Amino acid sequence: MKKLFFFIFIGAVTSLVAQNPLFIPPTITSTTINLVLDTGTTQFYPGRDTKTMGANGTLLGPTIIMDKNSFVDITVDNQLSDTTTMHWHGMHVSPENDGGPHTKIAPGESWNPQFTVMDNAGTFWYHPHLHHKTDKHVSKGIAGMLLVRDTEEANLNIPLTYGIDEFPIIFQTKGLDSLNQIEVHTEMDTMAMINGTVNAAVDFPAQVVRLRVLNGASQRIMEFGFSDNRNFNIIGTDGGLLPAPVNKTRCRLAPGQRADILVDLSASLGQDFKLMSFGSELPNGHYGATTPGMQVWQLIDGYPDNPLNGSDIELLDINVVAQTANPILTVPATLATLIPLDENTATVTREITFTVSPTATDLSGPFLMNGETFIHHHVNDTVQLGATEIWSLTNQTGIAHPFHIHDVQFQILTMNGQSPPAELAGWNDVVLVKGNFSNVRFIAKFEDFASDTVPYMYHCHMLPHEDMGMMGQFIVVQAVGIDEASDTFKKVSIYPNPTEGDVSIEGLENVKTINVFSIEGKLLLTENVNQTTTSKIKMPKAKGTYLLELISKKGEKTTQKIIHY
Ligand code: C2O
Ligand code: CU
Ligand code: CU
Repeated sequence: MKKLFFFIFIGAVTSLVAQNPLFIPPTITSTTINLVLDTGTTQFYPGRDTKTMGANGTLLGPTIIMDKNSFVDITVDNQLSDTTTMHWHGMHVSPENDGGPHTKIAPGESWNPQFTVMDNAGTFWYHPHLHHKTDKHVSKGIAGMLLVRDTEEANLNIPLTYGIDEFPIIFQTKGLDSLNQIEVHTEMDTMAMINGTVNAAVDFPAQVVRLRVLNGASQRIMEFGFSDNRNFNIIGTDGGLLPAPVNKTRCRLAPGQRADILVDLSASLGQDFKLMSFGSELPNGHYGATTPGMQVWQLIDGYPDNPLNGSDIELLDINVVAQTANPILTVPATLATLIPLDENTATVTREITFTVSPTATDLSGPFLMNGETFIHHHVNDTVQLGATEIWSLTNQTGIAHPFHIHDVQFQILTMNGQSPPAELAGWNDVVLVKGNFSNVRFIAKFEDFASDTVPYMYHCHMLPHEDMGMMGQFIVVQAVGIDEASDTFKKVSIYPNPTEGDVSIEGLENVKTINVFSIEGKLLLTENVNQTTTSKIKMPKAKGTYLLELISKKGEKTTQKIIHY
């Protein structure tokens, strides 16, 4: 009798929870990578069809595993009915390969970025980035994890076997309408999932297990932890491994952020616990907390109706099963070498201020950066190639925003004047800037890639905010110098370059003529230099790149690119 009761009890619990096996995206390890973007149907709940989008499948995309220094050849084939783009979030690639809003892939077309992987071992991801459509394409399902491996990581005794002792953990929330279809820009993201699986369950072996955690949600902040409050080790951030593991019971991840986590299950055989997002612990002013604004009167329309807000969300049921062969049973004491960027080498400090747009009616936005909304053809900032810069972010709004920058990984210098906590002291490409005039300063070096025409983005990674224009763009430009081999032009200096319009030229002793050409080679302006050693040139009105030619009295020529921005 007792036995029968027990049996029925188990059955009841099982049907109540309706657990689904955790989906583990397949991998692509080849350097030839084909991604086909298409639509499909997913049943998040049995019998309820939802139209989704995926890469090489109906939801999410394969986990791409790249080796540092390898040359990858990627084809992104767009079979959607929408134009889109594909961005390699966190990777250091040229602006042409970055897949930002300017690098569009029309329906039926494909895009073929090729690059050498320069990043250190780390947890990156890929997702579409078309302006106004990023949230649509990501929340309908296109997003994938991208792991970079390197020799420094290979030499550590940490889990490296995908699907066995290393698992992708992609946190997302989505909202379904009454017809079971995904809503975009919604505050009713009531469905939480890991790797696209709701009510997910997984077996982990009783050893050290590595979780590559990504917050791929549109706007919800994840407060990562376990139901039994067990400890875990954060070994890496967005851009790679930390110098040493940081032992914690919680890890806050804003949209776009990643954490590389080791959890030691060697003494947990037979245990059953849950991976959680502890929304009840989020402070005021964080999307996902009970109170989304810093002040109780700062509201978001519809937000209080979402049961996930302020709640502890069960995401993944973990059962600890037998060890694998050759298990890793210890967490290394030290990890990777981290060379801090020296603040004294920074040549520029750039201020970015977040404000609420005058048109906003509540804390859902739109928001502005430096008073401006994203304009497709407007470059907000120009960075010199090779420069080390400090970016100082100040959030004058009532809600925390995760700031993300393309091209570089940065090191956080201060958060409200304090040094960052150990788990944020590595390489990052997203940082959560709290509300009410909170400030974050970071340092980054802009190396290797310059383009006068294709910008990189920086933006809030809450996708509705980004789509509504909380984004700016910067170009990295090469300061091209006069050919120093030539004595004739040795004294010449041309500045500023890039310029907002006027260019001063000094040291014209040997120069007879100054010509300005369009980039296509059309002569636009000529000036004869007589009895003078300096000149001021007004660049043509249209912004862009020009060629400035100097002709010496002996007929020698030199040319320099001038950028008018
Ligand atoms: Cu994850 Cu500019 O994006
Ligand atoms: Cu990015
Ligand atoms: Cu934001």
